[in-house]
Amino acid sequence: MSIFKDHIDRMSAYKPPLDGRDPKQHLLLDFNERTLPVGEAIRQALVDYINDDRLQMYPSYGDIVEKIAAYAKVSAEQVMITNGSDQGIDLIFRAACCEGDEAIIPGPSFAMYSQCARVENLTIIEPQYTQEKGYPLAEVLAAISGKTRIIVVSNPNNPCGTLVARNDICTLAKAASDAVILVDECYFEYSSVTVADLVQQYPNIVITRTFSKTWGLPSLRLGYVIADADNIRALLNVRGPYDINQLAVVAIRAGLENLNGIESYVYEVMSESKPMLEGFFDQQKIPYWRSGGNYLWAFFENPEQIERGLQEAGVLVRPKSYLGQVGLRITLGTKEQSERLISVLAQLI
Ligand SMILES: Cc1ncc(COP(=O)(O)O)c(C=O)c1O
Repeated sequence: MSIFKDHIDRMSAYKPPLDGRDPKQHLLLDFNERTLPVGEAIRQALVDYINDDRLQMYPSYGDIVEKIAAYAKVSAEQVMITNGSDQGIDLIFRAACCEGDEAIIPGPSFAMYSQCARVENLTIIEPQYTQEKGYPLAEVLAAISGKTRIIVVSNPNNPCGTLVARNDICTLAKAASDAVILVDECYFEYSSVTVADLVQQYPNIVITRTFSKTWGLPSLRLGYVIADADNIRALLNVRGPYDINQLAVVAIRAGLENLNGIESYVYEVMSESKPMLEGFFDQQKIPYWRSGGNYLWAFFENPEQIERGLQEAGVLVRPKSYLGQVGLRITLGTKEQSERLISVLAQLI
C-alpha cells in the first residue's frame, strides 16, 4: 500500500536514454538539440552573472517576459515563462483537468503529454498519425466528447515532424470550445509556423515554446506559454514564483540581444543540411517522414544494425517505434556534421 495515489504509484517514470552522451566523443543527433555550443554573448553573460556574486539571491526576472513577448510578437500579458516547456505542458494539464477527464493525444508523439495526462489520471485517446494524412484530424474531431479537456497539437510533432495547418487548429478550437487546444511549438524557430497571433481570437488555444532546441540551452530549462491574458493569469496561480532559475534568464536575455547566431544556425540546418539528408534518403530509397522540425524520421531495412554502426562511428541517433516498426529519428546539425553523418550511413547501407 503506497502513501501516494494508487494511479501515481502504478505509473512508470519517463526516462530518456541520457547515459554516456558526451559531445566531446559523439556527434549528438539523438535529442533534437542544437549541435553547436552557445555563442560567446551567452557564455559571457553567464560568467559575468556568476562573478557578480548574486547566486545567493532568489531569482527576480525583471523585464524578461516583456522581452520574450516582443520576440514572439504578442503582448506581455499573453506570456508566462516556465521551467522548460515540459513545465508549461504540466501546468496546463494540471490547471485544466480533473480525474476522469479525457485528453486526445494523437500518437506517436512526445512522451510528456501522456505522462502529464497519467499523473492527472485522465483517459487518454490516441488516434494515430499516418504518413499519408498526417495529423488524424477526422479521428480527433470524432473523439471529442463532453469530457474532453485537452487536445494536443504538437506542431511540428516529435518524432514524425508533421505540421498541422492553421485552419485545422481553428477547426479544433471551434469544435472543442470548452477544451484546451495545447499547441506545442517547441520547434517554432525551425518551422516558422505559429498560431501565436490567434490566442485572443481563440482563447482556448494555449501554446508552449522553449529555448531548449534552437537556442542550445536545454540544460538551463527555460520555456514559455503564450495564451490569452486571462489564461496566463490563471496559469500563474499554479506556477511557483521561483520555478525558473536566474541563470536561464540571464542567458536568454543575452540570446535575445544576439539573434544573428540563431538565424544563421536555423538557415544552415533547414536550408542546407535538411535537403542534403533528404536527397540522400531519396537516392537510397529510404522512406522518411516530411518534417517541419530539425529532425527526420527514417525507416531503414535494418535499423538496429544502422543504429549500432552509427554509434560505433560516434554518431548517436534515437530509435522510435511506429506500428511495430523501428524508425531512426535523426537530428539535423550543421552542413559539415550532415556530411559526416551521410558518409557513415553510405558505408553502412
Ligand atoms: C515536442 C516537444 N515538446 C516539448 C519538449 C520539451 O522541451 P523542454 O526542454 O523545453 O522541456 C520536447 C523535447 O524534446 C519536444 O520534442
